[in-house]
Amino acid sequence: MGIHAACVLAAGKGTRMHSSRPKVLQTLLGEPMVRYVLAALEPHFADNIWLVVGHGAEEVQKAVPGSRFVLQSEQLGTGHALACALPVLKEAGVERLLVINGDVPLVTADILSRFLEQMGDSELAFATINLDDPGAYGRIVRKDGHLVGIVEAKDYDMSVWGPPSGEVNAGLYSLDLGLAEKLLPRLNNANKSGEYYITDLIGLALEEGHRVAGIICGTTTALLGVNSPLELDEAETILQKDINRRLLASGVILHAAASVRISPFAQIEPGADITGPCEITGKSCIRADACIMTNCVVRDSVVEGGAEIRPFSHLEGALVHSGALVGPYARLRPGAELGVNSHVGNFVELKKTKLGEGAKANHLTYLGDATIGRGTNIGAGTITCNYDGKHKYQTVIGEHAFIGSNTAMVAPVRVGDNTLIGAGSTITRDVPDGELAIARSRQKNLGVRRNLQPEEKA
Ligand code: UD1
Ligand code: CA
Repeated sequence: MGIHAACVLAAGKGTRMHSSRPKVLQTLLGEPMVRYVLAALEPHFADNIWLVVGHGAEEVQKAVPGSRFVLQSEQLGTGHALACALPVLKEAGVERLLVINGDVPLVTADILSRFLEQMGDSELAFATINLDDPGAYGRIVRKDGHLVGIVEAKDYDMSVWGPPSGEVNAGLYSLDLGLAEKLLPRLNNANKSGEYYITDLIGLALEEGHRVAGIICGTTTALLGVNSPLELDEAETILQKDINRRLLASGVILHAAASVRISPFAQIEPGADITGPCEITGKSCIRADACIMTNCVVRDSVVEGGAEIRPFSHLEGALVHSGALVGPYARLRPGAELGVNSHVGNFVELKKTKLGEGAKANHLTYLGDATIGRGTNIGAGTITCNYDGKHKYQTVIGEHAFIGSNTAMVAPVRVGDNTLIGAGSTITRDVPDGELAIARSRQKNLGVRRNLQPEEKA
């Protein structure tokens, strides 16, 4: 048996979005639209999925690495997009193809299952939904109960087809590759948009007596297309409500749930406590009994149980172990790892830095490319000087060290266990275990009286 594959049409510009970003890269809950479509396809087609890319092709390819791509260098319509993919699909031995628009982010693997089950032995099937207002969707024309074809909104002529029924084309198709090969060359662009429409395949197939099925998917919102900022907001709101409802039902505590934005790709364990407004995106994982307070942004980060992320903190690519306290106003950048019961306070930034168990950096500090041992205290205003304009260097601080306030550590440098660094030091040389180091000029009291003005004396 030949391969059953999927093809995502993702080459369009998305003119109605009024944005320079390719439409399929517009985001919902922090994730590009096209990733949602791929996530729904993957359980069915594994890696037999091709994306037709064109407008902003490089950007799209970067956003979904590891996928297979076909280039449609000129965007001449959805039918033309499929025609561009045809030779590649044939070459790969594909016999049956599912085609889906790249702008239906609410689609799910379940919806696809139902569609695939219902298409029976049809050579060409497509999904339809019912809308109160058919808007800009392609209209399904049926006469005396028989399917006639799909007519695009712009080309719809009431005097010919009567008032539209509200049944519209959802942009999801399944067809035999042989049929596509036969009919695609016969598409033309003699229509209001001057484009080659994939939807014209339906009329052509029917004319030739092929088995065509319009599969009615009812009023589901899962197949809504996203073409404009308004539709993007509608889809994102549906998704957000749906995710939050599921999380609440599973036992996640959401305060001000309407303002909590959680990506479907994040994992939130029952018993996690999250307060809106906040955003948890990417492949984040928030474990049971972790607490994310208001106004936090968490991306691709893991927060273990018993850790507390206080208001206005920003985490990206961070790992926070249990009992750690973060913020308010902390910034954890990629590679930040906070040990058990460690503390990171206000206006502290960590990048590629490991903070040991119980270690503290509570105020106004930058720690980059550093390893800090257990129980060490980093005083306010401490900076690792990790960058010389060309290269980055490491700072290693041992266990139970006490780094006085306003210390600059010029990397590469190693500060041993149980050391004490005097406030205001600029440390350029290694400090052996157990030593007290001070690197600042000695204070001079100059013996000169300050001449105060009379009003200052009062
Ligand atoms: C399309 C359908 C319409 C259907 C609607 C469902 C056509 C002609 N019309 O209209 O019947 O009701 O979807 O949402 O297909 N694309 C390409 N190359 C192109 C043009 C488009 O890859 O040359 C891609 C776009 O990136 C998009 C998808 O195809 O992901 C659909 O294109 P879009 O312009 O959004 O079509 P609609 O006008 O919504
Ligand atoms: Ca569309």
